Amino acid sequence: MRSVIYSKPGPSSVLQLTEREPAAPGPDEVRVRVAVSGVNPTDWKARAGNRPLELDEVVPNQDGAGVIDAVGADVDDLQVGDRVWVFLAAHQRPTGTAQEFTVLPASRVVPLPDDIGFDVAASLGVPAMTAHRALTVHELGPAHLSPGSLDGRVVLVQGGAGAVGHAAIQLARWAGATVIATVSSDEKAALASAAGADHVLQYPDGALASKVRSIAPNGVDQIVEVALAQNAALDAEVLANHGSIAYYANNNGDEFTAPIMASFAKNARWQGVLLYTVGQEALAAAAHDISAALEAGALPVGEDAGLPLTWFGLEDTAAAHDAVEAGVTGKVLIRIADDLR
Ligand SMILES: NC(=O)c1ccc[n+]([C@@H]2O[C@H](COP(=O)([O-])OP(=O)(O)OC[C@H]3O[C@@H](n4cnc5c(N)ncnc54)[C@H](OP(=O)(O)O)[C@@H]3O)[C@@H](O)[C@H]2O)c1
Repeated sequence: MRSVIYSKPGPSSVLQLTEREPAAPGPDEVRVRVAVSGVNPTDWKARAGNRPLELDEVVPNQDGAGVIDAVGADVDDLQVGDRVWVFLAAHQRPTGTAQEFTVLPASRVVPLPDDIGFDVAASLGVPAMTAHRALTVHELGPAHLSPGSLDGRVVLVQGGAGAVGHAAIQLARWAGATVIATVSSDEKAALASAAGADHVLQYPDGALASKVRSIAPNGVDQIVEVALAQNAALDAEVLANHGSIAYYANNNGDEFTAPIMASFAKNARWQGVLLYTVGQEALAAAAHDISAALEAGALPVGEDAGLPLTWFGLEDTAAAHDAVEAGVTGKVLIRIADDLR
């Protein structure tokens, strides 16, 4: 099979297209024939990192979708032929999705409804699971999302045209929240609106807090935050009592300061989110609820849905990584099997 590998960290030129024998799934594992691989910032960051690899050889990319073609012992709920999406494929394993077949623990493989395309499915893992976690850390719950579960809540999505931001808008709207999104341009405002945001505000803007306040006079209940170093003061200012600020990235700054009194006066919850360490319970909750949202058709992708797709071939995986690193708007996908749709 064709497989993209790297054996030392570095620029995208360390990625090599090579031939490898597909592995057989062990107990509690399945083998997936990959249709589409999804690329996220974490994939190029892991590849480019200064840390020595813990594994001799790594296949990159955490996210993907395809069809199960072999099942190991003790796997009861997945079968050969099932269409699936996968998450954390390359986490502490060499088995990312930039290859024609990958072997994964069954716990990281989720059935895909028949009418949902592999483009949607390969866009879910990192972005949608991170967004799910960010939306389920409020002090008063809910721990699960479903229609109506966020009724009456106001959610502020900072960076509404990003991949995580897009998924956060979609999931929050599906769950019944009123969504305010921030973006940096008219083009991105159109995308956040297409994703379903009720209100879209542009940053930077000295009047942003008062604009949020005029939409949500009682404050914002939940904030999904991509750039805490820049936005912490604004977040604290617009937060409602008992509100949560879920931050998942260090875009544009590695440290933040926050007003202590305003934070405790509002019983604010500053909640870090990292998918790799969030734990099995949160991952399972996300997979469950994302499946329900998929069934409801609530997570479309593409320009009309607010997430433009940029496609590459497997042989151009390095260019796909470079596109994500350069900050292309929307989702970068790699088509691996032309006959799987
Ligand atoms: N903790 C985790 O588990 C986890 C999971 C997923 C992603 N991440 C990290 O999260 C980051 C975003 O990932 P992604 O896939 O969503 O990337 P993306 O698609 O490139 O989106 C990043 C977004 O952040 C926006 N942004 C930057 N500064 C902002 C600010 N001050 N206010 C509001 N928005 C701002 C950008 O908009 P403009 O360019 O218009 O400013 C862009 O839309 C990456 O650093 C990634 O590594 C972490």
